[in-house]
Amino acid sequence: MMVLNDENVTGLPDDATVDYVRTGPGSLAGTYMRRFWQPVFVARKLEAGRAVPLVIMNQKLALYRSQEGKVHCVDNRCAHRGVMLSTGWVEGDNIRCAYHGWAYDGTGQCVEQPLEGRGFAKNIKIGGYPTREYLGLIFVYLGEGDPPEFPRFPEWEKAKLNVGIIDVRPCNYFQNIENYQDEGHIWFTHRGSALEALQLDKLPKLSVERTSWGLRNVAVTPDGRRREVLFGMPNVGAFLVEPHNTKRAGEEHYKAKETAWHHFAGWRVPVDDHSHLQVHTIGVFLDEEPSPEVIKRWHDFTEADEVGHDIARKILKGKLHFDDIPKLSNHVPMVQDEVVQVGQGIIPDRRKGIEFLGASDVGIVALRKLWVEELTALKEGRPLREWHRPEGLVPAAGG
Ligand code: FES
Ligand SMILES: [Fe+2]
Repeated sequence: MMVLNDENVTGLPDDATVDYVRTGPGSLAGTYMRRFWQPVFVARKLEAGRAVPLVIMNQKLALYRSQEGKVHCVDNRCAHRGVMLSTGWVEGDNIRCAYHGWAYDGTGQCVEQPLEGRGFAKNIKIGGYPTREYLGLIFVYLGEGDPPEFPRFPEWEKAKLNVGIIDVRPCNYFQNIENYQDEGHIWFTHRGSALEALQLDKLPKLSVERTSWGLRNVAVTPDGRRREVLFGMPNVGAFLVEPHNTKRAGEEHYKAKETAWHHFAGWRVPVDDHSHLQVHTIGVFLDEEPSPEVIKRWHDFTEADEVGHDIARKILKGKLHFDDIPKLSNHVPMVQDEVVQVGQGIIPDRRKGIEFLGASDVGIVALRKLWVEELTALKEGRPLREWHRPEGLVPAAGG
C-alpha cells in the first residue's frame, strides 16, 4: 500500500480537474499566478547597491537595487557557469557575477565578459522581470509578455504610513488563501488574541458572494455585528483591523492618534510547493505625519518573528499548548494561524472521506470553484476573466 505523505499527496479533492496547489515554472497554476504582479520583498529592506536571492514559485531570482535606487530583478543564475548573481556586485544598473565578472543589465542582457576579449555578450540573455515599488513592497511580474496594468489600492495610498511585512510560512500557499475564506476560524483559532474584542462567544452566520474582484466573505453575529474579508483573484485579501488590535502591550512611545482602522492588504506568494510568503501592507491612518518613533514602532512590529515560528513548531510537536501563544508571542494571531495552517499538512489531503466540508465552508467551496473555473479556461485556451477592484470596494470595518 502506498504511504501518503506531503510529497505524494496531490492536495486536491477527488473531483478536482485541475491542480491549483503547484506553481513551479510551466505548471498550470504557476502560469496563471504569473499573469499577475506579485509582491516579493519589503522595499525598505533592499538597500541601494545590494542584491538578495529570492525563490518565487520555484524560480530562482536575484533582486537588486542600483546605487540610484532603481530596483531590478533577474534570474539568479549566471549564464556562464551557473553562479548565483545575488552573490556578486551591483554596479550602476548592472549586476556583476562574483566568479568571472560577467555583467548583466536589469533586463537580463549580458553587457560585459571581461575575460573574453571581444566576447559574445550580445548573444547572452538571462530572464529579466519588470519591478514596481508600491505601498512599502517590491512587486515583480514573472509572466510572459508585457505586464498587466498595475493594480492600485487608492484607499491605502491615502494612509500617512504604509508598512510592508513579509514572513515565510512553512506550508503550501493554498491553505493560506483558503484561510481568507474561512471566517469561522476567527471564533476559535483567535481566542486569546486581541480579536477577542469581537466577542467571540457569539457565533456568526457565514455567507459568501462573488464580486468583480473575487469574493466577499461575511460573518454576521446574532447581535448584528458584521465582519468582512474581501478576496481578490488570484491570491489577495483585504480586511480592516481596529487599531487596538495591532498595538503591543506596554508601548510608551505610541502617541499618534489614529483616524481610521488599519487597512490590511495581503498576498500569499508561493516560494515553492512547500512554503510561501505571507505578505502584507498595512495602511496606517494618522492625524499628523508619523514621527520617527511611530515609524520605528511599526518597523519593529513588522520584523520577522522567529520566536513566533519557534512557538508554532513547539505546539505542533506537542511541547507547548495552543493556549500558551498569548503568553509567549507579540504576534498572537499570526502564530495561531501558523499552527492551524501548517498543522493541516505541508500540502493538505483534500480528498473526500478525508476532508468533510460543511455549511460553514461556503467560502472554501466558492474559492476552489473560482480557481477551477479560471484554470480550466486557461488549460482550454479560453479567455480569462479580468479581475478588478473598483475604488470603494473595501471591507466593512468589523474585525
Ligand atoms: S559563472 Fe558567472 S562569470 Fe563565470
Ligand atoms: Fe486567522
